[in-house]
Amino acid sequence: MHRVIGKRVVELSPAEFAALRERHAGVLLDVGTGDGKHVLHVARQRPDMLVVGLDANADALRRTSARAAVRADRGGLPNVVFVRAAAERPPAGLSGVDEVHVLMPWGSLLRGTLGDGPVLESLAAVCAPGAPFLVTLNLHAWRPPVPEVGELPEPDPASALTGLRARYADAGWQLTGAEYLDDAGIAALATSWTKRLGSSRDQLDVLALHGTVG
Ligand SMILES: C[S@@+](CC[C@H](N)C(=O)[O-])C[C@H]1O[C@@H](n2cnc3c(N)ncnc32)[C@H](O)[C@@H]1O
Repeated sequence: MHRVIGKRVVELSPAEFAALRERHAGVLLDVGTGDGKHVLHVARQRPDMLVVGLDANADALRRTSARAAVRADRGGLPNVVFVRAAAERPPAGLSGVDEVHVLMPWGSLLRGTLGDGPVLESLAAVCAPGAPFLVTLNLHAWRPPVPEVGELPEPDPASALTGLRARYADAGWQLTGAEYLDDAGIAALATSWTKRLGSSRDQLDVLALHGTVG
């Protein structure tokens, strides 16, 4: 897999990844990690977990991945790996994921988390059976001036548990809960995108979906 460390992209073989995984209690995968701040946050909170941030765009990962890669006594995080890959085609060697997060997706990742295209199935293929998931949707993507999501109607907790639940089940994801996040819940995600969106509007509307994969 293509591991991002600052400006470098180095190959991490399936055997090397498996060896890293063995040194940890489990793997948490953050898909569409952006600048990876959520990954750093989780890695500090859960040092027993190997936390993998995956994004199709390596540029935003440069600073955070460089920070994580320094020696632990200088603030580095040995339990962090950043990977350049599309969610539709997770890298060979990534398997046995024990928890998956997809926070504030946009573009093809947003459409994928709504059940369009291969994203849900591709991610299910790398997860251990019963892996918990958290998906958080920026509901402003459905609203003027430029709705991002085409024909799909804006979901709410009730519609997510009917229409979306069926789409998720088709891909092997069991969607068991959906609720709006309050300010504290949004802040707890510790992502750059929520901070950026939140600073430009009075209220940020985020729908959280959770359940298990496989
Ligand atoms: C709005 S940003 C959110 C970033 C981060 N999760 C946060 O909350 O700060 C969406 C991210 O999804 C990534 N993305 C979009 N489509 C993707 C795909 N098909 N595969 C992997 N990453 C994708 C983008 O590159 C971008 O970094």
